[in-house]
Amino acid sequence: MASDVIIALDFPGKDETMAFLDRFSDRKPYVKIGMELFYAMGPQAVRELKQRGHKIFLDLKLHDIPNTVKSAMAVLSKLDIDMTNLHAAGGSKMMQAALEGLTRPDGTRPILIAVTQLTSTSQEMLKNDLLIDRPMAEVVSHYAKTAAECGLSGVVCSPLEVQAVKETCGRDFLTVTPGIRFDGQGAADQVRITTPRMAREIGSDYIVIGRPVTRADDPVEAYNRACSEFLNI
Ligand code: C5P
Repeated sequence: MASDVIIALDFPGKDETMAFLDRFSDRKPYVKIGMELFYAMGPQAVRELKQRGHKIFLDLKLHDIPNTVKSAMAVLSKLDIDMTNLHAAGGSKMMQAALEGLTRPDGTRPILIAVTQLTSTSQEMLKNDLLIDRPMAEVVSHYAKTAAECGLSGVVCSPLEVQAVKETCGRDFLTVTPGIRFDGQGAADQVRITTPRMAREIGSDYIVIGRPVTRADDPVEAYNRACSEFLNI
């Protein structure tokens, strides 16, 4: 199964993004375009990064009524992206509609995954803010099961829930895991975190890493470290 380190390009615009990527002279990392860069550059961000040879995870986390999400996904299907996502909390009708919208006339489509619970959400927030009393791993597994039943290919979750998701949805169901920090680093706003090495040991398929690479003194060295820990190369 594919396994890779995805860099979250959380930059405010094109200049900062290209200056960052220019440092990677001999590698083309898998990259994630999130809300910040997409709202700044629009679909052109996808076109330019594809042209430079990067695989792209478009992380827009759609969450709206089924018809709106279906139409939005139909627009995104025209972009040459490799993976995109939505919030499982939107429910099964929304996820099914999204899959329909994302499927191109020739039957192909980017990988569609569902955000379960954000890695910035703690058990306490689940209880107090969302009024969900169940343990985090159970909530995440339930969202993952619903996503799998709707035909999605995987979920975004913390590495800490990978085992529960794989047990519920099978080994081939993808787990894409943010909340990655190197040993001894602060968590910032993330809560459910692990190191790249732990994510590999636990069985994540992809890790998403942002600030530990983008804000590192030497981003290429930090990326290479994440790759060597996670991919064991
Ligand atoms: O900088 P950091 O490594 O915390 O970045 C993590 C990235 O992953 C951010 O772009 C964030 O939007 C994204 N993400 C997340 N948790 C999720 C889904 C996406 O942190 N559940």
